[in-house]
Amino acid sequence: MMTQEIIKVDGLVKKFHNLTAVNNLSFTVNEGDVYGFLGQNGAGKSTTIRMLLTLIAPTLGSIELFGMNLQTHRNEILQQVGAVIEKPDVYKYLSAYDNLKLFARLNGKVTHKKVMDQLEVVGLADRAKDKVKTFSQGMKQRLGIAIALIHDPKLIVLDEPTNGLDPQGIADIRNLILHLCKEQKKTLLVSSHLLTEIEHIATKVLIIDKGRKIIEGSSADLFDPTQTIVEIQTTDNAFALQQLQQSNWRNSLQLERNEAVVIKIDKQAIPQLHRDLVNMNLRLLSLQPKHSLEDYFLQVTSGKQHVDAFTN
Ligand SMILES: Nc1ncnc2c1ncn2[C@@H]1O[C@H](COP(=O)(O)OP(=O)(O)O)[C@@H](O)[C@H]1O
Ligand SMILES: [Mg+2]
Repeated sequence: MMTQEIIKVDGLVKKFHNLTAVNNLSFTVNEGDVYGFLGQNGAGKSTTIRMLLTLIAPTLGSIELFGMNLQTHRNEILQQVGAVIEKPDVYKYLSAYDNLKLFARLNGKVTHKKVMDQLEVVGLADRAKDKVKTFSQGMKQRLGIAIALIHDPKLIVLDEPTNGLDPQGIADIRNLILHLCKEQKKTLLVSSHLLTEIEHIATKVLIIDKGRKIIEGSSADLFDPTQTIVEIQTTDNAFALQQLQQSNWRNSLQLERNEAVVIKIDKQAIPQLHRDLVNMNLRLLSLQPKHSLEDYFLQVTSGKQHVDAFTN
């Protein structure tokens, strides 16, 4: 079976006045992925997700879902998408059951069995009759997910679903995501500002910073301990990039950042890379291996907040 492209984002840009919140972002989510969408606070995750859900319009770029253009097939597409963004909007004075039933009606007919099944999936069946005001944050979050699931969408988008939850709440959400992917064959896009919350469940990871893609890859690849990410700085990074693109290293190139060229290679290959760079007549300023993706993520996303995004 051919894997279907569930989300295809190409050259997406969102500007708010002089702030570029999302900057030329492209990525693809395939059927069956748990796609981890990472970036620190303010990186542009929610802005991207809001564009995927047509809550705001892109400044530039294109979005396709299920192979259809989001602008021209909006309704058809959104019927197959379930999302929880920000805090789920539920009625505190109604029970979990009544909340779910109420929201489900907005999507057509719903049976008692369907409501109970859905509460079962999110682990709330035994609390079905309890008012939501007695729920923990994690339970409310899971109820929000049940609401997003009631119309049986193919794609589920969760914006920082573990934010503000205690460790048990985080574990519950993680297990629920795995269940949805493995047992129910859903595709999920899950954002987080913490790599640790996503690395064990994501099949693919995209890291953004200041609206730009930093790295994208399968978790197996990115967390492969024999691989390392190397940042190369030269006196002319654009030229370095061009040289590397024409070399045997081209398939290892990660992305084009202004400040450095980033490459992911086998640790053993570092001396060879060094020799090749010198032979390409590049004036090397630094060649820094980052030993884990986590180190790398922390480094590229830490420190300076949106300072340069404002001046773009
Ligand atoms: N409606 C808006 N108007 C102006 N700026 C916004 C708006 N929404 C988001 N931003 C800005 O865009 C940037 C990205 O925000 P956001 O997408 O919420 O980041 P994340 O979800 O990754 O924390 C931030 O600098 C934020 O302040
Ligand atoms: Mg956000």
